[in-house]
Amino acid sequence: RGRIFSGMQPTSDSLQLGNYLGALTQWVALQEVHDAIYCVVDLHALTVGPDPAVLRERTRRTAAQYLAAGVDPARSILFVQSHVPEHAELAWLLSCHTGFGEASRMTQFKDKSAKQGTEGTTVGLFTYPVLMAADILLYDTTLVPVGEDQRQHLELTRDLAQRMNARFGAGTAVVPEAHIVKATAKIFDLQDPTAKMSKSAESPNGLIELLDDPKVVAKRIRSAVTDAEREIRYDPVAKPGVSNLLTILSALTDRPVAALEADYAGKGYGDLKKDLAEVVVGFLTPFQERVHHYLADPTALDDVLAEGAERARALAVPTLERLYDRSGLLPRR
Ligand code: TYM
Repeated sequence: RGRIFSGMQPTSDSLQLGNYLGALTQWVALQEVHDAIYCVVDLHALTVGPDPAVLRERTRRTAAQYLAAGVDPARSILFVQSHVPEHAELAWLLSCHTGFGEASRMTQFKDKSAKQGTEGTTVGLFTYPVLMAADILLYDTTLVPVGEDQRQHLELTRDLAQRMNARFGAGTAVVPEAHIVKATAKIFDLQDPTAKMSKSAESPNGLIELLDDPKVVAKRIRSAVTDAEREIRYDPVAKPGVSNLLTILSALTDRPVAALEADYAGKGYGDLKKDLAEVVVGFLTPFQERVHHYLADPTALDDVLAEGAERARALAVPTLERLYDRSGLLPRR
């Protein structure tokens, strides 16, 4: 059995379909055959400067969406990052092994800091990938299920693990692998199908949020950007809009894209959109009911998270001790 770790930032009231198809469905599948640890990364969310009450609410909402998607706390460890202080401690250690230039080359940092300017960019945003590496290495993780946009951060994590091993001896850190499922690694914006679907998109019309009103979602799918042809064919370069709709339909129905192309031979974009809207709404309606069920009892939810934090901590403490010891920090007695 491998050890899985992954997390999402509680930076929005709702996860979006890219989070679900790119990561969350993988999490649920992987927990069946691996030891899985799933985290709400609230420390990472601090980099966007959230309102405290909003952050608290979003942290619970994110956890509720993990549960509603099928993350099973009887199988997997489900917890909130700040409840396990070892994440922040390991991040410091790793930051002393991360090059300034290396961190400056992270494309997500470059994009975000370019938008915010040097004064508006915090040191936390700069060291964000180091905290992410700490999340992963703290559990001797072997496999990290994420979408394509996290690939570079995973590479940095692997480099840091290898650097620790070269410096302090084999077995200091476990070198993790990214688990990125090609078909759904990048779900695109419905209005701009060359950009990834993201909660920070310019227009909300290209976004499908899991907790959106199903009527709004259906409307957004019906107005998705396609192209001037008629043919329903998977061709991400020439037909990014239609290909994205096929990807989503395929993932939600478990039907291969080639079979869908055959199903829609001779049919129009309107048919595809109508069917996709039906499938998405059919998925969202019970999903939202489950989320609201979990949110209706915050005490029970907090109990699940507390138990998860305790189990996570039992794994994190020995790893941090090993890394501290190998680094030459005097053992506590
Ligand atoms: P975050 O919160 O931005 O996104 C959560 C997960 O969703 C994936 N994702 C997508 N996949 C496909 N298509 C899309 N349009 C799409 N948008 C988002 C992301 O790749 C991610 O897997 N840094 C991470 C959170 C994190 C983490 C970790 C992940 C912190 N520590 C340790 C793994 C392991 C992030 O910001 O994800």
